[in-house]
Amino acid sequence: MEKLYITGGKPLSGVISTGGMKNAADPIFFATLLVGDVCIIENVPDAADIRHASEILTDLGAVVAYMGDHTYQIDTRYVSRASISNALSSKLRSSYYLLGAGLGRFGAAETGFPGGCDFGSRPIDQHVKGFRALGATVEEDFENCRIRCNAENGLKGASVYLDVPSVGATINLILAACRAPGNTVIENAAREPHIVDLASFLNSCGASIMGAGTPTIKITGVESLYGSRYAVVPDMIEAGTYLIAAAATKGEVTVTNLIPRHLESLTAKLEEMGVNVEEGDDSITIHAPAPDAPPMHAVRVKTAFYPGFPTDMHPQITALLCMASGESRLTESVWANRFQYVPELQRMGAKLSVSGSDLIITGVEKLKNANVRAVDLRAGAAMVIAALATEGTTVVDDIHHILRGYENIVEKLNAVGAEIRLVKLPDGIIN
Ligand code: EPU
Repeated sequence: MEKLYITGGKPLSGVISTGGMKNAADPIFFATLLVGDVCIIENVPDAADIRHASEILTDLGAVVAYMGDHTYQIDTRYVSRASISNALSSKLRSSYYLLGAGLGRFGAAETGFPGGCDFGSRPIDQHVKGFRALGATVEEDFENCRIRCNAENGLKGASVYLDVPSVGATINLILAACRAPGNTVIENAAREPHIVDLASFLNSCGASIMGAGTPTIKITGVESLYGSRYAVVPDMIEAGTYLIAAAATKGEVTVTNLIPRHLESLTAKLEEMGVNVEEGDDSITIHAPAPDAPPMHAVRVKTAFYPGFPTDMHPQITALLCMASGESRLTESVWANRFQYVPELQRMGAKLSVSGSDLIITGVEKLKNANVRAVDLRAGAAMVIAALATEGTTVVDDIHHILRGYENIVEKLNAVGAEIRLVKLPDGIIN
């Protein structure tokens, strides 16, 4: 059992470097299985989800070697199946990318139900619809928690219109279609930077994918792919989390190794709140407020698919809005049930009320330290932000959620003046 002890109330100051994006590295790891060759993947974050993806590939017979400096060599030449246990499947959401990759390489794949953050229902109907359009049969076995995909006669390119621009379904269909003969068109595709990154990786391996980053992705199936060396895109959500932490502590922090365009919806919102933001070519600086600057003020935020305000930055911006003057309103339009962290911030004195998909946030001058839980990955990041801005010591529990997605979060924040201790307690000890 691990907890964070965070003694806050001090402005952060310094430079934080962004790592590679977990939500891009995960599908790229599964894509190496589709490639069936030796790939070298650079800029991979050291996060628990990546270790779980490696564990799955290794279980299937791939040779996954860490070369140091965030670089992995993955050899999937001798993998001959795409079937994993329920236990492995439930370790991360991205385990279901084995379905697209396995169908694409072997014409068959089977997993248990995927894990990941609990936002209530997380349907996969668009994945299933797309696989079927490409000629696969899909069986969802609810009794044994298994998903079985089969394409005995091979897949064939097809047109698929997604009812929602789902990141996961877009990725799974790209994976399945790359080696399917003919042309595949995915309409209403997700446009997130991780989609572009996956497509760029696969194109570097000989795939023919056009239009990634737009709502229409066109894929011409190729017979085979070959290994390549590829560096994962910087993690915009990690970068955004640190920018918000800087603003919350009234600090002076430069976050480097990022793509400012990916963060425009956040930086625009921070500026609207009165935060002093400066963009560089591959960095963003949050300047400390001038002594006579007015307090940050309330704004309206509505989460949306990219390039809208990311749902994965919703809990973090809420933590900041808790300390802005006036009444803010945050509308969650991607995950209806993403408000489970609200009672945790309320424990710290935040004034929050949920009304349908809206969260009303009445700013308070200061939050107070408390014992809180990381109910999911980004909610955990929000607890860290709130604690950094709050005097006294806040204890954050269930931090395995945070460690799934943030590499060296403790070290990175302590290097810019935070006071965070990660404490490991032997199982069974309640503190
Ligand atoms: N949806 C459907 N049917 C489907 C698939 C999705 O109705 O078949 C709906 C969902 O219910 C949701 C919306 O479409 O309302 C978006 O879901 P999406 O499929 O895009 O989400 P995901 O692929 O399961 C990824 C990220 C999430 C992030 C979402 C949205 C990974 C591993 N996860 O999830 O990231 O919130 O996209 O951007 O890439 C996180 O990193 O903290 C995280 C939860």
